[in-house]
Amino acid sequence: MIPVWVQVVYLVAAVCFILALKGLSSPKTARRGNLIGAAGALVATAVVFFERPLGNIVPILIAVGLGAVLGAVGARRVQMTQMPQLVALFNGVGGGAAAIVAVAELHGFDREPAPSAVTTTAAAFTVVVGAVSFAGSLVTFAKLQGLMTTRPVVFPGLPVLFAATILTAIAAIVIAAVDPGLIPAIALAVLGLLAGVLLVLPVGGADVPIVISLLNAFTGLTVAAGGYVLGNVLLLIAGTLVGASGTLLTVMMARGMGRSVTSTLFGALRGGSTLGAGTASDRPVRSATAQDIAIMLGYASRVIIVPGYGLAVAQAQHALRELVDVLTERGIEVDYAIHPVAGRMPGHMNVLLAEAQVPYEQLVEMDDINPRFKHSDVVLVVGANDVVNPAAKTTPGAPIYGMPILKVDEAKQVVFMKRSMRPGFAGIENELLYDPKTTLLFGDAKETMDKLLSAVKAL
Ligand code: TAP
Repeated sequence: MIPVWVQVVYLVAAVCFILALKGLSSPKTARRGNLIGAAGALVATAVVFFERPLGNIVPILIAVGLGAVLGAVGARRVQMTQMPQLVALFNGVGGGAAAIVAVAELHGFDREPAPSAVTTTAAAFTVVVGAVSFAGSLVTFAKLQGLMTTRPVVFPGLPVLFAATILTAIAAIVIAAVDPGLIPAIALAVLGLLAGVLLVLPVGGADVPIVISLLNAFTGLTVAAGGYVLGNVLLLIAGTLVGASGTLLTVMMARGMGRSVTSTLFGALRGGSTLGAGTASDRPVRSATAQDIAIMLGYASRVIIVPGYGLAVAQAQHALRELVDVLTERGIEVDYAIHPVAGRMPGHMNVLLAEAQVPYEQLVEMDDINPRFKHSDVVLVVGANDVVNPAAKTTPGAPIYGMPILKVDEAKQVVFMKRSMRPGFAGIENELLYDPKTTLLFGDAKETMDKLLSAVKAL
């Protein structure tokens, strides 16, 4: 029986998790939300040491110390643009930890009278789904970190192998639930690891973030089931929150990219998302100097900025904000167009621009800004590509086909600030770069933005 004071502490921690989610839903309150969530997790971890006498206290403390140091160092060192990889890794570790606990539980059921079938089934389920999440997250990490190709990896027989693995895993869950023990638990883990790898291999480029979110939901489910097995209410609540929010985020991100979750996962198997040559053609384009672009901006009355991943890589957000300030002072109307999947993680551009003190009111969501492109004089696309690529409307079979895009092609003039003719994350050519109304300002976005700022100030 859990002592009452522990239950109260659990309740407080659970409320912290809920408040954290609420806070994370807006950039203004996200930092506070994150701290509240971390405080809840700290309290929940600490209370375990006082709840009842613990065995193996030394190895536990060593593991906690090691995890805390690795987590803190990793989180401090990581670049903003590498955050999705970090999330994938943390998520995988969570799923893996839940799976290991469930393996130990199934092993324990072997030696003592086994609990109810529901509990053994939940433990077996935890092992499989936790292992899927662990292995799948490691593959997404490898894809995002550039350790392997970001393109879909498919081979003949993959769908059959995947289906067979899932069916075998389901049968193994039934067997392990009836007759738990270490061997069935290990078999479940191996099947889960295989299923995780096979699930993520065919997912390509632009769809990887959706899969991270899906795996996150899987980890939530695993932790909730683990909480049930261990009789730990807080794990059950935390897991359910992660599972529910991960599922909602997955659906919202898939919708943001104009795809269904199933086409994200299985599109490549149907030959849907493998397209995309990834090489830039040598057709002529129009390029200009920072001075030319400054003059173009000087004559404009309505300008829209489209920020993308390259802005984050170059860390050009402060110079960009300064440029916008100067233009606004001169009576030019300037807005930022925020695409839901610009950058490499949800809300990436909002966070980046907030860091540069850009007022939230200047950030306009895609649906609101799209009708305004046709009335704008100049659109400045800074380190963005896929989110303005008309192939999403015109090229069936392109990896981004169906994804809603910013209608930059409707503007009078378009300026792309990028280093080369290389494609964006999805690896496909962007016809807009060759459009007669497009001008390219080549170079690292920070350098060209500084030059553009000086040129505009000198006008
Ligand atoms: P991308 O399509 O990846 O385009 C980024 C552009 O920035 C590239 O064309 C690149 O061209 C340029 N660039 C890179 N470094 C630069 C630098 N230092 N200076 C100037 N330009 C630089 O980015 P996007 O338009 O933001 O689209 C996001 C893509 O990422 C989508 O496909 C999306 O699905 C995917 N994605 C999104 C998320 C979320 S949830 N936001 C997560 C993961 C992936 P050069 O190499 O020629 O410079």
